[in-house]
Amino acid sequence: MKVDVLLGLQWGDEGKGKVVDVLTPRYDVVTRFQGGPNAGHTLEFNGEKYVLRSIPSGIFQGNKVNIIGNGVVLDPALFKAESESLAKSGHDLTKRLFISKKAHLIMPTHRLLDAAYEAAKGKDKVGTTGKGIGPTYTDKISRNGLRVGDILNNFEAKYKKAVARHEQILKSLNFEYDLASLEPEWFAGIEYLKQFQLIDAEHVVNKLMNEGKSVLAEGAQGTMLDIDFGSYPFVTSSNTICAGACTGLGVSPNKIGEVYGIFKAYCTRVGAGPFPTELFDEVGEKIGAIGHEFGAVTGRKRRCGWLDLVALKYSIMINGVTKLIMMKSDVLDDFDVIKVCVGYKINGEVVTDFPYDIDEVEIEPVYKEFKGWKSDLTKITSESQFPTEFADYIKFIETETGVPVKIVSVGPDREATIER
Ligand code: GDP
Ligand code: IMO
Ligand code: MG
Repeated sequence: MKVDVLLGLQWGDEGKGKVVDVLTPRYDVVTRFQGGPNAGHTLEFNGEKYVLRSIPSGIFQGNKVNIIGNGVVLDPALFKAESESLAKSGHDLTKRLFISKKAHLIMPTHRLLDAAYEAAKGKDKVGTTGKGIGPTYTDKISRNGLRVGDILNNFEAKYKKAVARHEQILKSLNFEYDLASLEPEWFAGIEYLKQFQLIDAEHVVNKLMNEGKSVLAEGAQGTMLDIDFGSYPFVTSSNTICAGACTGLGVSPNKIGEVYGIFKAYCTRVGAGPFPTELFDEVGEKIGAIGHEFGAVTGRKRRCGWLDLVALKYSIMINGVTKLIMMKSDVLDDFDVIKVCVGYKINGEVVTDFPYDIDEVEIEPVYKEFKGWKSDLTKITSESQFPTEFADYIKFIETETGVPVKIVSVGPDREATIER
């Protein structure tokens, strides 16, 4: 069996959590492979709503195995809170959630460093989620990190050594902090972790596949936030792309099956950084209001704009997307005109290959206009009921990208999902 990967093609918050939940009944195993609690994946079903941060979105449908892979960064305090709140609502995970010993730990000082680095950047700040993601991955790459497996062996000494290093940096940045107030909750999280099966996830995932078990890998963030291919430096600190599933789970590239690329029928971005199709007018406000575009993690208002095919095609190329999933189509129900960006005009020339720099150059999006469908998509249950204008919109995207749109989402609920 192979690993199917589902990942965001834009700047995150495409609706990954919802669709992973919808697809879970078809898989035996659901995994996260990168990112950490910077993610906020929302699921709605039976009138209930959950936001998952570090735990895979495969925990609600059947008794599936869920795995947090080595590529993830885990904050034990936030993980404990998330897991306990799920247990309270009747979803006890201790028997079916496995955690890679190679996943790196987000320390309280990583969170402080995140804040300190942002403060030091001043007006150039990235607008991070403040969860310590960048500093934790920095320590991983510089070979100073602490891993989940470390908690089983001489942990106190390793922790103290790392903290001493972090405190030196915090002092050099003149950053004021109160570490003592953060540590009890964090160490409680470390103890809490010990009741879970801490595993060599790469062996487990490969064995499960060899036994014929199907695996779905759930991406976090989006391709435009990828550390290599996103709008650097306004990105997250991991590889959010399909290749990240290989390094973040320990599966070889030839074990990757379908690549589900998920995108909104428009675009959003939270935090700082370039966004070529961003709307600063009442149209952008309207999309944000109808789409409830506020961050699931930080509550920040998401910036809104039209669908960007230049960026979307780039994401599809980088990820080898085999199936597209279009989300939040219903948000555009009430627009007379819907626009899609088909090129960037830079210095008088139109480019369609996503360029190196989208930050320090003036980009004028070139738009193709579509007539709005002006009808309620949320009531639709099958493709045959699509308004013509909506079908045309999808057809255009498929023709431009060369990839079929296999799932269309028309509402936040699990049920508001149309397969084609
Ligand atoms: P993720 O991070 O990719 O999992 O996405 P988020 O959960 O951060 O953001 C997606 C938001 O859109 C959530 O509030 C979802 O409940 C909501 N949502 C998902 N699909 C749809 C849809 O088709 N229509 C509408 N109106 N909302 C949706
Ligand atoms: P999901 O999985 C949207 C953004 C932050 C910031 C940048 C870097 O829910 O789609 P970080 O804390 O990662 O160092 O912040 O990345 N960001 C996200 N934006 N959705 C996310 O996750 C995000 N995770 C990080 O806003 O601009
Ligand atoms: Mg999100």
